[in-house]
Amino acid sequence: MKIGIVKEIKNSENRVAIIPSNVPEFIAGGHQVYIETGAGEGSGYTDEEYREAGAIICPDAETVWTTAELLYKVKEILPPEYKYLRDDLVIMTYIHSNSHREQTDKLLESGCVAIALEDVSSDDPMKRWPLVANMGELAGKGGFLAALYYAQSVHGGQGLLLANVAGDDQPIISIIGCGYTGKGAAELASAFGNKVRVMDVNFKAMEEAKKYFPPNVSFMYSNRANILKCLKDSDVVINCILWDKTRTDHLIYREDLKLMKKGAMIIDVACDDEGAVETCRSTTHEDPVFYEEGILHYCVDNIPSAFSRTSSVRFSNDSLPFALEVADKGVVQALKDNKHLRRGLTAYHGTLTMVETGIKQNRPYEEPDEFVKNL
Ligand SMILES: NC(=O)c1ccc[n+]([C@@H]2O[C@H](COP(=O)([O-])OP(=O)(O)OC[C@H]3O[C@@H](n4cnc5c(N)ncnc54)[C@H](O)[C@@H]3O)[C@@H](O)[C@H]2O)c1
Repeated sequence: MKIGIVKEIKNSENRVAIIPSNVPEFIAGGHQVYIETGAGEGSGYTDEEYREAGAIICPDAETVWTTAELLYKVKEILPPEYKYLRDDLVIMTYIHSNSHREQTDKLLESGCVAIALEDVSSDDPMKRWPLVANMGELAGKGGFLAALYYAQSVHGGQGLLLANVAGDDQPIISIIGCGYTGKGAAELASAFGNKVRVMDVNFKAMEEAKKYFPPNVSFMYSNRANILKCLKDSDVVINCILWDKTRTDHLIYREDLKLMKKGAMIIDVACDDEGAVETCRSTTHEDPVFYEEGILHYCVDNIPSAFSRTSSVRFSNDSLPFALEVADKGVVQALKDNKHLRRGLTAYHGTLTMVETGIKQNRPYEEPDEFVKNL
Protein backbone atom coordinates (compact mmCIF):
# COMPACT_ATOMS: atom_id res chain seq x y z
CA MET A 1 0.00 0.00 0.00
CA LYS A 2 1.12 3.58 -0.64
CA ILE A 3 1.39 5.43 2.68
CA GLY A 4 1.44 9.24 2.58
CA ILE A 5 2.73 11.61 5.27
CA VAL A 6 2.30 15.36 4.92
CA LYS A 7 3.66 18.34 6.81
CA GLU A 8 1.05 19.49 9.31
CA ILE A 9 -0.42 22.87 8.39
CA LYS A 10 -2.15 23.75 11.66
CA ASN A 11 -0.66 26.79 13.37
CA SER A 12 2.25 25.88 15.74
CA GLU A 13 1.86 22.17 14.96
CA ASN A 14 5.35 20.74 14.73
CA ARG A 15 4.63 17.04 15.08
CA VAL A 16 4.98 14.50 12.29
CA ALA A 17 3.04 11.22 12.05
CA ILE A 18 6.00 8.96 11.42
CA ILE A 19 9.56 9.12 12.69
CA PRO A 20 12.35 7.82 10.43
CA SER A 21 13.01 4.70 12.54
CA ASN A 22 9.45 3.49 11.91
CA VAL A 23 9.60 3.84 8.10
CA PRO A 24 11.31 0.43 7.64
CA GLU A 25 8.36 -1.21 9.42
CA PHE A 26 6.20 -0.34 6.41
CA ILE A 27 8.90 -1.12 3.85
CA ALA A 28 9.37 -4.59 5.37
CA GLY A 29 5.70 -5.28 4.68
CA GLY A 30 6.11 -4.38 1.00
CA HIS A 31 4.57 -0.90 1.34
CA GLN A 32 5.90 2.43 0.06
CA VAL A 33 6.19 5.53 2.22
CA TYR A 34 5.77 8.94 0.53
CA ILE A 35 6.62 11.93 2.69
CA GLU A 36 6.39 15.63 1.94
CA THR A 37 9.73 17.43 1.99
CA GLY A 38 10.29 19.13 5.35
CA ALA A 39 7.49 17.16 7.08
CA GLY A 40 9.80 16.16 9.93
CA GLU A 41 11.61 19.48 10.28
CA GLY A 42 9.50 20.72 13.22
CA SER A 43 10.53 17.61 15.15
CA GLY A 44 14.16 17.76 14.11
CA TYR A 45 14.07 15.04 11.42
CA THR A 46 15.62 15.77 8.02
CA ASP A 47 14.54 14.57 4.58
CA GLU A 48 17.87 12.77 4.42
CA GLU A 49 17.01 10.68 7.49
CA TYR A 50 13.68 9.69 5.93
CA ARG A 51 15.36 8.91 2.60
CA GLU A 52 17.94 6.71 4.32
CA ALA A 53 15.12 4.91 6.11
CA GLY A 54 13.60 4.06 2.73
CA ALA A 55 10.95 6.78 2.27
CA ILE A 56 10.34 8.63 -1.00
CA ILE A 57 10.55 12.41 -0.52
CA CYS A 58 7.83 14.34 -2.40
CA PRO A 59 8.17 18.00 -3.41
CA ASP A 60 4.77 19.12 -2.04
CA ALA A 61 1.66 18.11 -0.13
CA GLU A 62 -0.38 17.66 -3.32
CA THR A 63 1.93 14.92 -4.58
CA VAL A 64 1.59 13.05 -1.29
CA TRP A 65 -2.19 13.42 -1.04
CA THR A 66 -2.78 12.34 -4.65
CA THR A 67 -0.36 9.39 -4.47
CA ALA A 68 -1.35 7.98 -1.09
CA GLU A 69 -3.83 5.17 -0.51
CA LEU A 70 -3.44 5.58 3.25
CA LEU A 71 -2.92 9.18 4.40
CA TYR A 72 -1.43 9.07 7.87
CA LYS A 73 -1.16 12.34 9.76
CA VAL A 74 -1.51 13.96 13.18
CA LYS A 75 -4.05 16.81 13.20
CA GLU A 76 -7.53 17.40 11.84
CA ILE A 77 -8.08 17.88 8.11
CA LEU A 78 -8.11 21.64 7.51
CA PRO A 79 -9.92 23.55 4.72
CA PRO A 80 -6.90 23.73 2.34
CA GLU A 81 -6.77 19.90 2.55
CA TYR A 82 -10.47 19.24 1.81
CA LYS A 83 -9.88 19.19 -1.94
CA TYR A 84 -7.68 16.10 -1.58
CA LEU A 85 -10.33 13.91 0.05
CA ARG A 86 -11.62 11.17 -2.27
CA ASP A 87 -13.49 7.91 -2.05
CA ASP A 88 -10.51 5.60 -2.52
CA LEU A 89 -8.51 7.22 0.29
CA VAL A 90 -8.13 5.97 3.87
CA ILE A 91 -7.17 8.61 6.43
CA MET A 92 -5.85 8.00 9.91
CA THR A 93 -5.41 11.10 12.07
CA TYR A 94 -6.86 12.94 15.08
CA ILE A 95 -10.26 14.07 13.74
CA HIS A 96 -12.49 15.26 16.63
CA SER A 97 -15.47 15.15 14.27
CA ASN A 98 -17.95 16.09 17.00
CA SER A 99 -16.45 19.54 17.33
CA HIS A 100 -15.73 20.12 13.61
CA ARG A 101 -19.00 20.02 11.72
CA GLU A 102 -17.62 21.28 8.40
CA GLN A 103 -14.81 18.72 8.43
CA THR A 104 -17.37 15.98 9.11
CA ASP A 105 -19.40 17.19 6.08
CA LYS A 106 -16.33 17.00 3.86
CA LEU A 107 -15.33 13.54 5.07
CA LEU A 108 -18.82 12.23 4.36
CA GLU A 109 -19.24 14.04 1.02
CA SER A 110 -15.88 12.78 -0.27
CA GLY A 111 -16.68 9.12 0.44
CA CYS A 112 -13.27 8.50 2.05
CA VAL A 113 -12.71 6.11 4.94
CA ALA A 114 -11.62 8.07 8.02
CA ILE A 115 -10.32 6.65 11.29
CA ALA A 116 -10.01 8.98 14.29
CA LEU A 117 -6.93 8.10 16.27
CA GLU A 118 -8.23 9.81 19.43
CA ASP A 119 -11.06 7.27 19.53
CA VAL A 120 -8.92 4.17 19.05
CA SER A 121 -9.41 2.26 22.30
CA SER A 122 -7.56 -0.34 24.38
CA ASP A 123 -8.41 -3.07 26.91
CA ASP A 124 -6.39 -1.35 29.64
CA PRO A 125 -8.97 0.23 32.00
CA MET A 126 -6.41 2.84 33.08
CA LYS A 127 -5.65 3.78 29.48
CA ARG A 128 -8.89 3.48 27.53
CA TRP A 129 -7.78 5.94 24.85
CA PRO A 130 -4.07 5.20 24.44
CA LEU A 131 -3.42 7.69 21.64
CA VAL A 132 -4.81 10.54 23.74
CA ALA A 133 -3.37 9.38 27.05
CA ASN A 134 0.22 9.72 26.03
CA MET A 135 -0.19 13.26 24.73
CA GLY A 136 -2.01 14.12 27.98
CA GLU A 137 0.92 12.87 29.98
CA LEU A 138 3.24 15.18 28.01
CA ALA A 139 0.83 18.11 28.50
CA GLY A 140 0.78 17.55 32.27
CA LYS A 141 4.55 17.35 32.43
CA GLY A 142 4.80 20.47 30.26
CA GLY A 143 2.38 22.22 32.62
CA PHE A 144 4.69 21.59 35.56
CA LEU A 145 7.68 22.78 33.53
CA ALA A 146 5.80 25.99 32.70
CA ALA A 147 5.27 26.57 36.42
CA LEU A 148 8.97 25.94 37.06
CA TYR A 149 9.80 28.55 34.40
CA TYR A 150 7.31 31.26 35.41
CA ALA A 151 8.15 30.94 39.11
CA GLN A 152 11.63 32.25 38.34
CA SER A 153 12.24 35.92 39.11
CA VAL A 154 13.94 36.34 35.73
CA HIS A 155 10.65 35.30 34.12
CA GLY A 156 8.37 37.52 36.20
CA GLY A 157 7.87 35.20 39.19
CA GLN A 158 8.80 35.54 42.84
CA GLY A 159 11.94 33.48 42.40
CA LEU A 160 10.67 30.31 44.06
CA LEU A 161 12.47 27.17 42.94
CA LEU A 162 9.84 24.45 42.70
CA ALA A 163 12.03 21.78 44.27
CA ASN A 164 13.06 20.39 47.66
CA VAL A 165 15.87 22.64 48.86
CA ALA A 166 17.40 22.24 52.34
CA GLY A 167 16.60 25.18 54.60
CA ASP A 168 13.19 26.05 53.22
CA ASP A 169 9.70 24.51 53.18
CA GLN A 170 8.88 22.36 50.20
CA PRO A 171 6.67 24.25 47.72
CA ILE A 172 3.07 22.99 47.55
CA ILE A 173 1.65 22.00 44.20
CA SER A 174 -2.03 21.07 43.98
CA ILE A 175 -3.22 19.20 40.93
CA ILE A 176 -6.94 18.91 40.19
CA GLY A 177 -7.64 15.70 38.26
CA CYS A 178 -5.94 12.33 38.58
CA GLY A 179 -6.14 11.39 34.91
CA TYR A 180 -3.43 11.22 32.28
CA THR A 181 -2.49 14.91 32.45
CA GLY A 182 -2.74 15.13 36.24
CA LYS A 183 -0.50 12.11 36.72
CA GLY A 184 1.98 13.50 34.18
CA ALA A 185 2.19 16.75 36.16
CA ALA A 186 2.40 14.90 39.49
CA GLU A 187 5.22 12.67 38.28
CA LEU A 188 7.54 15.62 37.54
CA ALA A 189 6.39 17.82 40.43
CA SER A 190 7.01 15.00 42.92
CA ALA A 191 10.32 14.00 41.36
CA PHE A 192 11.51 17.57 42.03
CA GLY A 193 10.68 17.03 45.71
CA ASN A 194 7.64 19.30 45.98
CA LYS A 195 4.75 18.56 48.29
CA VAL A 196 2.16 17.42 45.76
CA ARG A 197 -1.58 17.00 46.21
CA VAL A 198 -3.71 15.31 43.61
CA MET A 199 -7.48 15.82 43.85
CA ASP A 200 -10.18 13.86 42.10
CA VAL A 201 -13.76 12.71 42.56
CA ASN A 202 -12.81 9.24 41.35
CA PHE A 203 -11.48 7.22 44.31
CA LYS A 204 -10.48 4.31 42.14
CA ALA A 205 -8.25 6.53 40.02
CA MET A 206 -6.59 7.93 43.16
CA GLU A 207 -6.18 4.51 44.78
CA GLU A 208 -4.51 3.15 41.65
CA ALA A 209 -2.19 6.17 41.34
CA LYS A 210 -1.27 6.02 45.04
CA LYS A 211 0.29 2.60 44.46
CA TYR A 212 3.12 3.96 42.37
CA PHE A 213 3.60 7.59 43.44
CA PRO A 214 6.18 8.48 46.13
CA PRO A 215 5.13 9.57 49.65
CA ASN A 216 5.43 13.28 48.84
CA VAL A 217 2.21 12.89 46.81
CA SER A 218 -1.08 12.84 48.72
CA PHE A 219 -4.54 12.26 47.32
CA MET A 220 -7.56 14.35 48.33
CA TYR A 221 -11.21 14.19 47.47
CA SER A 222 -12.11 17.08 45.22
CA ASN A 223 -14.84 19.16 46.81
CA ARG A 224 -15.35 22.85 47.37
CA ALA A 225 -13.81 22.88 50.86
CA ASN A 226 -10.66 21.07 49.77
CA ILE A 227 -10.26 23.20 46.68
CA LEU A 228 -10.42 26.35 48.81
CA LYS A 229 -7.85 24.88 51.20
CA CYS A 230 -5.51 24.20 48.29
CA LEU A 231 -5.99 27.66 46.84
CA LYS A 232 -4.94 29.19 50.15
CA ASP A 233 -1.71 27.29 50.69
CA SER A 234 -0.50 26.23 47.24
CA ASP A 235 2.29 27.82 45.27
CA VAL A 236 0.93 26.32 42.08
CA VAL A 237 -2.52 24.97 41.18
CA ILE A 238 -2.57 22.82 38.07
CA ASN A 239 -5.99 22.15 36.57
CA CYS A 240 -6.08 18.78 34.81
CA ILE A 241 -9.73 17.82 34.92
CA LEU A 242 -11.94 16.62 32.12
CA TRP A 243 -14.58 19.32 32.19
CA ASP A 244 -18.13 18.76 30.98
CA LYS A 245 -18.44 21.56 28.44
CA THR A 246 -22.16 21.95 29.07
CA ARG A 247 -21.53 23.04 32.69
CA THR A 248 -21.94 26.71 33.49
CA ASP A 249 -20.54 26.63 37.04
CA HIS A 250 -16.84 26.57 37.92
CA LEU A 251 -14.54 24.89 40.44
CA ILE A 252 -12.39 28.00 40.88
CA TYR A 253 -14.24 31.32 40.74
CA ARG A 254 -12.68 34.72 40.09
CA GLU A 255 -13.40 35.64 43.72
CA ASP A 256 -11.44 32.59 44.92
CA LEU A 257 -8.23 33.92 43.38
CA LYS A 258 -8.10 36.48 46.18
CA LEU A 259 -7.39 33.60 48.60
CA MET A 260 -4.19 32.66 46.81
CA LYS A 261 -0.72 33.55 48.05
CA LYS A 262 1.20 36.38 46.44
CA GLY A 263 3.19 34.94 43.55
CA ALA A 264 1.08 31.77 43.31
CA MET A 265 -0.05 30.70 39.87
CA ILE A 266 -2.65 28.73 37.99
CA ILE A 267 -1.56 26.38 35.25
CA ASP A 268 -4.68 25.36 33.34
CA VAL A 269 -3.74 22.30 31.33
CA ALA A 270 -7.38 21.31 30.76
CA CYS A 271 -7.79 24.76 29.34
CA ASP A 272 -11.54 25.16 28.95
CA ASP A 273 -12.42 28.82 28.44
CA GLU A 274 -14.41 29.93 31.47
CA GLY A 275 -14.58 26.26 32.44
CA ALA A 276 -13.41 24.70 35.70
CA VAL A 277 -11.37 27.87 36.19
CA GLU A 278 -13.68 30.84 35.60
CA THR A 279 -10.81 33.12 34.58
CA CYS A 280 -9.31 30.70 32.05
CA ARG A 281 -8.98 31.76 28.42
CA SER A 282 -6.86 29.70 26.03
CA THR A 283 -3.45 31.08 25.15
CA THR A 284 -0.73 30.19 22.66
CA HIS A 285 2.95 29.34 22.91
CA GLU A 286 3.66 32.79 21.43
CA ASP A 287 1.74 34.58 24.21
CA PRO A 288 1.24 32.00 26.97
CA VAL A 289 0.38 33.87 30.17
CA PHE A 290 -1.86 36.60 31.56
CA TYR A 291 -2.79 37.88 35.02
CA GLU A 292 -6.23 37.95 36.65
CA GLU A 293 -6.61 39.30 40.20
CA GLY A 294 -2.80 39.39 40.32
CA ILE A 295 -2.50 35.64 39.70
CA LEU A 296 -0.50 34.38 36.74
CA HIS A 297 -2.50 32.08 34.43
CA TYR A 298 -0.83 29.77 31.91
CA CYS A 299 -3.48 28.32 29.58
CA VAL A 300 -1.73 27.05 26.45
CA ASP A 301 -4.06 24.66 24.63
CA ASN A 302 -1.44 22.66 22.70
CA ILE A 303 1.31 22.09 25.22
CA PRO A 304 2.65 18.88 23.57
CA SER A 305 3.66 20.77 20.44
CA ALA A 306 6.35 22.50 22.55
CA PHE A 307 7.86 19.04 22.89
CA SER A 308 7.35 18.11 19.25
CA ARG A 309 10.20 15.65 19.00
CA THR A 310 9.10 13.65 22.05
CA SER A 311 5.45 13.96 21.00
CA SER A 312 6.25 12.70 17.49
CA VAL A 313 8.14 9.74 18.88
CA ARG A 314 5.18 8.82 21.11
CA PHE A 315 2.60 9.46 18.43
CA SER A 316 4.48 7.45 15.83
CA ASN A 317 5.23 4.49 18.11
CA ASP A 318 1.70 4.36 19.53
CA SER A 319 -0.18 4.69 16.26
CA LEU A 320 2.18 2.56 14.13
CA PRO A 321 0.63 -0.85 14.96
CA PHE A 322 -2.80 0.39 13.83
CA ALA A 323 -1.48 1.98 10.62
CA LEU A 324 0.52 -1.18 9.86
CA GLU A 325 -2.54 -3.35 10.36
CA VAL A 326 -4.51 -1.26 7.87
CA ALA A 327 -1.63 -1.35 5.39
CA ASP A 328 -1.05 -5.10 5.73
CA LYS A 329 -4.65 -6.34 5.75
CA GLY A 330 -6.51 -3.59 3.93
CA VAL A 331 -8.90 -1.35 5.81
CA VAL A 332 -11.96 -3.63 5.79
CA GLN A 333 -10.17 -6.68 7.19
CA ALA A 334 -8.31 -4.56 9.74
CA LEU A 335 -11.60 -3.06 10.93
CA LYS A 336 -13.21 -6.49 11.15
CA ASP A 337 -10.29 -7.96 13.12
CA ASN A 338 -9.54 -5.11 15.51
CA LYS A 339 -12.32 -3.76 17.71
CA HIS A 340 -10.07 -0.99 19.02
CA LEU A 341 -9.37 0.33 15.54
CA ARG A 342 -13.08 0.00 14.72
CA ARG A 343 -13.91 2.24 17.68
CA GLY A 344 -12.16 5.07 15.81
CA LEU A 345 -14.03 4.55 12.53
CA THR A 346 -15.65 7.89 11.79
CA ALA A 347 -16.68 7.81 8.14
CA TYR A 348 -16.99 4.93 5.68
CA HIS A 349 -17.80 5.85 2.08
CA GLY A 350 -20.36 8.46 3.11
CA THR A 351 -21.74 6.77 6.24
CA LEU A 352 -21.10 8.37 9.62
CA THR A 353 -19.97 5.72 12.10
CA MET A 354 -18.96 7.92 15.05
CA VAL A 355 -21.93 7.61 17.40
CA GLU A 356 -21.08 10.66 19.56
CA THR A 357 -20.87 12.89 16.49
CA GLY A 358 -24.18 11.62 15.15
CA ILE A 359 -25.88 12.41 18.45
CA LYS A 360 -24.19 15.78 18.97
CA GLN A 361 -24.68 16.99 15.40
CA ASN A 362 -28.08 15.39 14.98
CA ARG A 363 -27.05 13.38 11.92
CA PRO A 364 -27.90 9.83 10.88
CA TYR A 365 -25.20 7.37 11.95
CA GLU A 366 -24.47 3.65 12.09
CA GLU A 367 -23.03 1.88 15.11
CA PRO A 368 -19.54 0.76 13.90
CA ASP A 369 -19.54 -2.86 15.23
CA GLU A 370 -22.78 -3.73 13.42
CA PHE A 371 -21.86 -1.70 10.35
CA VAL A 372 -18.46 -3.35 9.88
CA LYS A 373 -19.93 -6.85 10.38
CA ASN A 374 -21.94 -6.30 7.22
CA LEU A 375 -19.09 -5.09 4.99
N1 LIG B 1 -3.44 21.97 27.10
C1 LIG B 1 -3.10 20.91 26.40
O1 LIG B 1 -2.19 20.96 25.56
C2 LIG B 1 -3.78 19.60 26.64
C3 LIG B 1 -3.21 18.42 26.15
C4 LIG B 1 -3.82 17.20 26.45
C5 LIG B 1 -5.03 17.20 27.15
N2 LIG B 1 -5.58 18.38 27.55
C6 LIG B 1 -6.87 18.42 28.25
O2 LIG B 1 -6.68 18.05 29.62
C7 LIG B 1 -7.94 17.58 30.15
C8 LIG B 1 -7.71 16.35 30.98
O3 LIG B 1 -7.26 15.33 30.13
P1 LIG B 1 -6.93 13.88 30.71
O4 LIG B 1 -6.43 13.11 29.55
O5 LIG B 1 -6.09 13.98 31.91
O6 LIG B 1 -8.38 13.39 31.10
P2 LIG B 1 -8.73 12.15 32.05
O7 LIG B 1 -10.12 11.76 31.70
O8 LIG B 1 -7.65 11.12 31.99
O9 LIG B 1 -8.68 12.75 33.52
C9 LIG B 1 -9.54 13.72 33.98
C10 LIG B 1 -9.79 13.47 35.45
O10 LIG B 1 -10.56 14.57 35.94
C11 LIG B 1 -11.34 14.03 36.98
N3 LIG B 1 -12.41 14.93 37.39
C12 LIG B 1 -13.63 15.13 36.85
N4 LIG B 1 -14.33 16.01 37.59
C13 LIG B 1 -13.51 16.39 38.61
C14 LIG B 1 -13.63 17.29 39.69
N5 LIG B 1 -14.76 17.99 39.90
N6 LIG B 1 -12.58 17.45 40.52
C15 LIG B 1 -11.45 16.76 40.35
N7 LIG B 1 -11.28 15.89 39.34
C16 LIG B 1 -12.29 15.71 38.49
C17 LIG B 1 -11.84 12.71 36.41
O11 LIG B 1 -12.34 11.85 37.41
C18 LIG B 1 -10.56 12.20 35.75
O12 LIG B 1 -9.82 11.35 36.62
C19 LIG B 1 -8.84 17.35 28.93
O13 LIG B 1 -9.78 18.41 28.86
C20 LIG B 1 -7.88 17.42 27.76
O14 LIG B 1 -8.53 17.90 26.57
C21 LIG B 1 -4.98 19.57 27.33
